[in-house]
Amino acid sequence: MAGRSSFLIVANRLPVDRTIESDGTAAWRRSPGGLVTAIAPVMQRRQGAWLGWPGAPDEKLEPFEQDGMSLIPIPLSAEEVELYYEGFSNATLWPLYHDVVAPPVFERRMWETYRRVNERFAEAAAEAAEEGAVVWVQDYQLQLVPAMLRRRRPDLRIGFFLHIPFPPVELYWRLPWRTELLEGLLGADLVGFQLPGGASNFIRLCRRLLGLSYKGNEVYYGDRVVTAQAFPISVDFSELDVLVREPHIVQRAKEIRAELGDPEHVLLGVDRLDYTKGIGQRLEAFGELLTEATLGPGEAVFVQIATPSRERVDEYRRLRDDIELQVGRINGEHSALGAQPIQYFHQSHSRDELAALYLAADVMVVTPLRDGMNLVAKEYVSCHHDLRGALVLSEFAGAADELRQAYLVNPYDVEGLKRTMMTAMRATPHEVARRMRALRRRVSTYDVDRWASEFLTALES
Ligand code: ADP
Ligand code: G6P
Repeated sequence: MAGRSSFLIVANRLPVDRTIESDGTAAWRRSPGGLVTAIAPVMQRRQGAWLGWPGAPDEKLEPFEQDGMSLIPIPLSAEEVELYYEGFSNATLWPLYHDVVAPPVFERRMWETYRRVNERFAEAAAEAAEEGAVVWVQDYQLQLVPAMLRRRRPDLRIGFFLHIPFPPVELYWRLPWRTELLEGLLGADLVGFQLPGGASNFIRLCRRLLGLSYKGNEVYYGDRVVTAQAFPISVDFSELDVLVREPHIVQRAKEIRAELGDPEHVLLGVDRLDYTKGIGQRLEAFGELLTEATLGPGEAVFVQIATPSRERVDEYRRLRDDIELQVGRINGEHSALGAQPIQYFHQSHSRDELAALYLAADVMVVTPLRDGMNLVAKEYVSCHHDLRGALVLSEFAGAADELRQAYLVNPYDVEGLKRTMMTAMRATPHEVARRMRALRRRVSTYDVDRWASEFLTALES
């Protein structure tokens, strides 16, 4: 079977996005988000192919090689982008699975398109996989693919990993298409979650909704056994650890501090501009610290990098307006000539620039209202071999399960946030180093290679 692969990744997006430059030429840019951050290094170290959408509507492209990966583009029409990607994936499933921090939209047209697009991915995977191949399906956009693929190719070993939280039964129950979606996942041999809580929500749901029996983490489904297990995802620790020691990054980190006016404290937020990330909550807390003069003029600068994300979805449009209004208000009240307390960037940054920012920051503020894992927190830790740098981390990020020595905080509690940010800023170097050392031990041991190999070993066994 020429051109077929023994190992396939199937994800909504390819690791690179097709973009059109200002001079009209087409180019490729790394796709946003944690899924690509985690899977790209795994893929570069293995032979196989990656199926996904190239990020622009109506692009029909032939398979190609990029950054040492074989990529198979799956086209989406403009209507499918609207109904499957922006609609069912990001206006229905995303808010529902993130504890309904925004109201989910339930629309039949979106569901029907989601089903049709999932069929297309399953069909393409069935064609690209050689006999007995391992196929690893990723994330909430493709939950029907495991069952659709199994129907076409019962010879395959099929794994599924959910990068976002799997909700409690009471929330999942609202979905008008709950049965079909769950049966879609049950097409996999192994269903992976970020945390044990996600796996147990899934097993409970199998019992309540389909009356399936189970033992431990194994669910009995017809004549098959489906395993549900937690595999907390991680980052390429050593890549960042090496990168951040390079002289040009060290130099850039110094320049960043100088450009910010050499304040005593540099605080940093790095997120996709998403309402789950708690960006407004952290800025509110920082603004109050300035208003109450707990922080003096020029004492601290907050750098907030917010990558543009899902910009045609209503909730994301509203969020952008809210955050930009908030930044304007706080800066309006507290700026001096040439010095603004919040430096806000609605931009994507290169890996080098991000690494320099992580290195330059004294306090990393990661305050999601709900997050499957949060790789930014683990990236920050990977960049601090100097043992400087304090991590303020939401209790509602999956990463909080592992990163117990972070300054943990409830992002809904503004007073608690203020207090914790101040504690992190005022901590002694000894205390900061003690915590960072423990955090680094964890992230360096459980890096992304370990995550992938534990998942694949469980899938293949
Ligand atoms: P999510 O997957 O929800 O976006 P994560 O924190 O798990 O959240 O992953 C985000 C990934 O995107 C990280 O690898 C981070 O470095 C990257 N990222 C976030 N913001 C930016 C930005 N402004 N420029 C470049 N990369 C970014
Ligand atoms: C999260 C999701 C990914 C998604 C990424 C970026 O990490 O779990 O599946 O790819 O966000 O979002 P986007 O909608 O731009 O693909």
